[in-house]
Amino acid sequence: MKNLYLLLIAATISPLALPATVDLHAHWDQRCQSCHGHAGAFARRFLRIENDQLVGAHHNGNLDAFLRNHYLNDELVAPVTAMLKAQVASRPLFNQKCAGCHGTAAEFARLSLLIKDGVLIRQSNGRKVVDYLASHGRLKPDEVQIVIDSLTRVRLEVSGPAK
Ligand code: HEC
Ligand code: HEC
Repeated sequence: MKNLYLLLIAATISPLALPATVDLHAHWDQRCQSCHGHAGAFARRFLRIENDQLVGAHHNGNLDAFLRNHYLNDELVAPVTAMLKAQVASRPLFNQKCAGCHGTAAEFARLSLLIKDGVLIRQSNGRKVVDYLASHGRLKPDEVQIVIDSLTRVRLEVSGPAK
């Protein structure tokens, strides 16, 4: 009985017991936001990319080792690093032009968007988001693809680690 109990505890705390898909934005909101605020704003303010590596204002060099000992399960270090890198590398267009009506990109992606055959579509009717943005959201033509790329990434991030 005691062994079974220990086994159950081990299963509960083992990283393998995490669900196969982790919503990275929900994870950030639960585990990191209280100290760092919104992930995108934090990344753009404090982090940068050097030689394709994510580096921090306080931690020069690769953040990998730091993050492994900083509130993060080992298996989430790579996906969270990829998320922060993408945020550093992209303009916060959704925040500037869409969030006022739609909330955060993560909330919007969970509620309203899907990816089908690699294409971002609307949950409500299966139509392509890129077509909708031609006449919605007041984006300049060259901004549409940037927003599509960001929302596609965020949709993947809220449905599980990069696949
Ligand atoms: C209890 C507060 C707290 C929590 C929770 C927390 N952090 Fe931090 N984090 C800090 C502090 C303080 C620093 C900077 C000081 C340092 O060098 O350790 C930091 C530094 C960082 C840095 C490097 C920033 C830089 O400028 O070099 C990253 C990246 C980071 N945290 C990511 C995360 C992630 C991802 C999570 C959630 C899994 C998280 N943090 C949770 C307090 C926190
Ligand atoms: C002034 C408020 C406002 C702004 C700004 C805005 N939207 Fe919308 N958006 C709406 C409303 C309201 C709807 C619902 C319209 C409907 O259902 O007919 C909508 C619907 C959508 C839909 C379809 C959702 C679905 O359920 O199918 C997408 C996709 C979308 N917006 C993307 C964007 C993007 C991307 C931006 C920024 C570039 C943006 N919107 C800016 C108000 C706004």
